[in-house]
Amino acid sequence: ASKLGCKKERTLAMIKPDAVTKIGDIIQMIYSENLLVTKAKMTKLSWKQAADFYSEHQSKPFFNNLVQFVTSGPVVAMEVMGDEAVSAWRKILGPTDSAAARSDAPRSLRAQLGTDGTKNAAHGSDSLASAARELEFFFPSTTSGGPSSTAKCADC
Ligand code: TYD
Ligand code: MG
Repeated sequence: ASKLGCKKERTLAMIKPDAVTKIGDIIQMIYSENLLVTKAKMTKLSWKQAADFYSEHQSKPFFNNLVQFVTSGPVVAMEVMGDEAVSAWRKILGPTDSAAARSDAPRSLRAQLGTDGTKNAAHGSDSLASAARELEFFFPSTTSGGPSSTAKCADC
């Protein structure tokens, strides 16, 4: 059961290969917005894993470039928790295209740490449903209850 009005959520943050060396700055940005890092894992995705993670984009013209980029080096996946964590982390990220972000949201993570519309430093789930799927992708549940269908926090 959910407590009425509880806004605590979990989301999936992924530092992409171009920004893994900036992990310190990124964690600082997360904590300074009152979010918490509750899980973290560095891994190198295979082509198949990256294509699965980004399967919603498989028919897009940029799909191959995206998978190529995200498999070009290690990534760091993190579970980020806090009030409205899904939208709060997306706000920290800023616009998808780092070049556009530098004019539209110059203090955003992608403006400061990314390069362009593909090399944009980090990923964030775009909804509670995506967060549940993407958290399960990187941090599979091992409990008998099976995957959590929601990224709402368990205790609220
Ligand atoms: P998308 O889900 O639209 O953006 P976001 O990461 O902000 O949720 O796209 C996923 C990733 O695909 C995006 O982070 C970078 C890459 N991408 C391109 O390479 N070219 C593009 O034109 C777009 C829209 C995205
Ligand atoms: Mg997206």
